[in-house]
Amino acid sequence: MGNLLTVEKLCVDYVTRNGGYVRAVDNVDFSIAEGESLGLAGESGCGKSTIAYSLMRLHRPPALISNGNINIDGKDVLAMQEAELQQFRWKEISMVFQSAMNCLNPVVTLEKQFYEIFKYHGITSNKKEARKKAEELLAIVGIPAERLKDYPHQFSGGMRQRAVIAMALALRPRLLILDEPTTALDTVVQRDILKRIYELKKEFGFSILFITHDISLMMEFCDRIAIMYAGKIVEQAPAKTILNNPRHPYTYGLKNSFPSLKGEIKYMEGIPGSPLNLNCIPKGCRFQERCFRAGKDCFTKEPEITCEKDAFFYCHNPLEV
Ligand SMILES: Nc1ncnc2c1ncn2[C@@H]1O[C@H](COP(=O)(O)OP(=O)(O)O)[C@@H](O)[C@H]1O
Ligand SMILES: [Mg+2]
Repeated sequence: MGNLLTVEKLCVDYVTRNGGYVRAVDNVDFSIAEGESLGLAGESGCGKSTIAYSLMRLHRPPALISNGNINIDGKDVLAMQEAELQQFRWKEISMVFQSAMNCLNPVVTLEKQFYEIFKYHGITSNKKEARKKAEELLAIVGIPAERLKDYPHQFSGGMRQRAVIAMALALRPRLLILDEPTTALDTVVQRDILKRIYELKKEFGFSILFITHDISLMMEFCDRIAIMYAGKIVEQAPAKTILNNPRHPYTYGLKNSFPSLKGEIKYMEGIPGSPLNLNCIPKGCRFQERCFRAGKDCFTKEPEITCEKDAFFYCHNPLEV
């Protein structure tokens, strides 16, 4: 399986008013194979959305991509001009934003909004044909066809969320980014929507970057998982490994911050303290302050990468195999 997306040494900075900057994404490497689903997990503020926006070149000032490469299907994303980007977005990569429910235009019917997408991207400008395509997409996410004539405010939160997902799929993108797409919905609806997306993935063979802080949901739906802490990917491994044998103490803590899927009651250890302030990055490992395994090296030397057959992590004192 070839890689659809390759990200190398990506750095994204937020320029501050006094001319300094905060490095929200620091030397991040990852790839996503064709048809693969990669999970990106980590506490709020660790840089997940910043990565997602950068992949689509939708980052706005004060964000600045200061280093790295982003390549999708052989195309250099960072070299693209605006005209090229407009064709590339939604067609090659599409994204369901964190606040996706607010992305719909409130004064335009759903039918019209689908029509505009198809027309803009040269799929069809025939109204009947567009309606048929929109109906098919809505069926996928479980919205009855007759609701096409409705305005977004007439939909429940869950319905709006589904509509946005249907739109993100409208142009059959090669990569679908889901940035905490369902956090506003209850768990049953969340799982239901995700199931539908994954059925579709099987059918059409697109890839997924699934961002969430709910690592249990991620383990259910992703092939591989990358764990982010304070702007860095600290561990990456197949979902099974993350579940059964995480090596980074942060992964371990994150994993234990949520009740298990099967609903068995277990003690939630969580992680003490709060995420690192990116304005004062300590010497050594970024997770030192909160780590139950921190030793002397962790306060003096930044951990190097340790690679294992299909995984890697950055830690001086990893959990044992
Ligand atoms: N508009 C902004 N201006 C300045 N800094 C920002 C801005 N947005 C995000 N950041 C910085 O980038 C970090 C990562 O943010 P974000 O990518 O939204 O994290 P996540 O999606 O993981 O919650 C934040 O902790 C913050 O320091
Ligand atoms: Mg985010």
